[in-house]
Parts: sequence; structure tokens; C-alpha cells
Amino acid sequence: MVRPMHDSATAPERVRTRFEERARDFDDLYEDERWLVRTLRPGLFRRRRLAVETVAAYTAPRVLDVGCGSGRIGEFVLEAGAGHYVGVDFSEPMIDLARSRLERFADRTQLIVDDFLTAPLRGEFDVILAVGLFDYLPEPHTFSRRMFALCAPGGCVVGSFPTWSWLKGPIRKVRYEWIGNCPIFNYSRRELELMFGASGFDRVEIRSPGRSGYLVRAYRA
Ligand SMILES: C[S@@+](CC[C@H](N)C(=O)[O-])C[C@H]1O[C@@H](n2cnc3c(N)ncnc32)[C@H](O)[C@@H]1O
Repeated sequence: MVRPMHDSATAPERVRTRFEERARDFDDLYEDERWLVRTLRPGLFRRRRLAVETVAAYTAPRVLDVGCGSGRIGEFVLEAGAGHYVGVDFSEPMIDLARSRLERFADRTQLIVDDFLTAPLRGEFDVILAVGLFDYLPEPHTFSRRMFALCAPGGCVVGSFPTWSWLKGPIRKVRYEWIGNCPIFNYSRRELELMFGASGFDRVEIRSPGRSGYLVRAYRA
């Protein structure tokens, strides 16, 4: 993984600040029903579709959404039949947006404001979502290991991972890191295989649907 020049002690705090200050802007950016967003950012739609397909393949699964943000994916997976949905995000304004978006599913939804690494999560989950999360993690292995510990036998993790591209990479660097003071990270296929393998997952399925990232489904036997 490309991990240059980031102080892992301050990185999570900078990410949290960004998602606290810009919650509404991010929520708007993820509106993938709009024609323009679909055209310019087809990856958003693809990752959501994989999350929904995966949830729909289980019967009333327990779903954990790590970095659930404003609950946009949560809404779709609840509609697709999630039996119980737990969303965790360390940005309170993001969780506030999720709370109003998911109000109609309140009887099977729990939202937690906390860092995933320290959140009091108990039990096992059939599907763990990590969509748009790993972009911001200086120590991603700690996350994949905790995901494995929380994954039920027969369950899986669905995640999205940016990779460096000369088309989008420099723009993202300038926008997030230089202007926004928010660290971002990229991944290679090999790094993903190693990370999920070392965390205990038995099978790692990696798709590369576009130029700018990977979609991963990692299974626990
Ligand atoms: C780009 S948003 C993605 C939101 C949502 N998954 C989606 O696809 O619509 C990333 C989210 O991850 C959250 N996040 C980043 N690091 C986190 C951590 N260590 N613990 C909990 N949430 C985290 C941020 O606050 C932010 O809301």
C-alpha cells in the first residue's frame, strides 16, 4: 500500500474532522441516482450494487456497515432484506443524516457514533460493508482483522478500494490532501490479497470494474 508521509496518529483525527465539517457535501456527492453522478462516477453505483446483491443472497442477514456515513447504502441493503443493520461511523453529523434517512427501518437498525476499532460491537455479522472507507485508513490491516473477528462463518466483507490512476490520482491528492487536509490511500491487487489473507479470510474475490479502483468480496469459510 502506498503510505507516504502520513502520521498515523493524526490521520484518523483529520479524517474525522473532514467528515464532520463536510457531512452534507459528502452526502450530496454520493447521490448516485442523478444522471450526472452516474455518468461521472459509475463506481459509486457499482459498489452499491455489489453490496445490495451480496445482502440479497442471504436470508435476513445481520449487516454491519463500517463507515456507514449518511446511510445511503444502508437504505438500499435494508430494502434488499437485511434482517438487522448496524451502522458505525465516527462522524456524528454523518450519523445524524443516516438516522433521518433510515428512520422507517428503526426497528431493525442500530447506529453507533464511534471509531470502528474501538466501537462496542458484539456478535457476528453475515455481511460486513466497507464501502468508501479504506480510502482513508493509514493502518488498514487493523480494520480487516477486526472485520474478520466480527464476521460469521459463511459470511463476507464487501469493500471498495481506490487504486492509483494518473487520471484521477493527482486530482484526488490535491483535493483531499492539499486542500482538505485529509489523508487518502491507494491499493494494489496484491496488497489486497495479502491483507485479507493475513487477516484470516479464506477466499478473496477481487474485481476491477474501472480504472480507479477495486471491489473486493472476502469470505470466511
Ligand atoms: C466516503 S464516506 C462513505 C460512506 C458510506 N459508506 C457510503 O458509501 O455512502 C466514509 C465514511 O467513513 C467514516 N470513517 C472513516 N474512518 C472511520 C473510522 N475509523 N471509524 C468509523 N468511521 C470512519 C467517515 O466518517 C465517513 O463517513
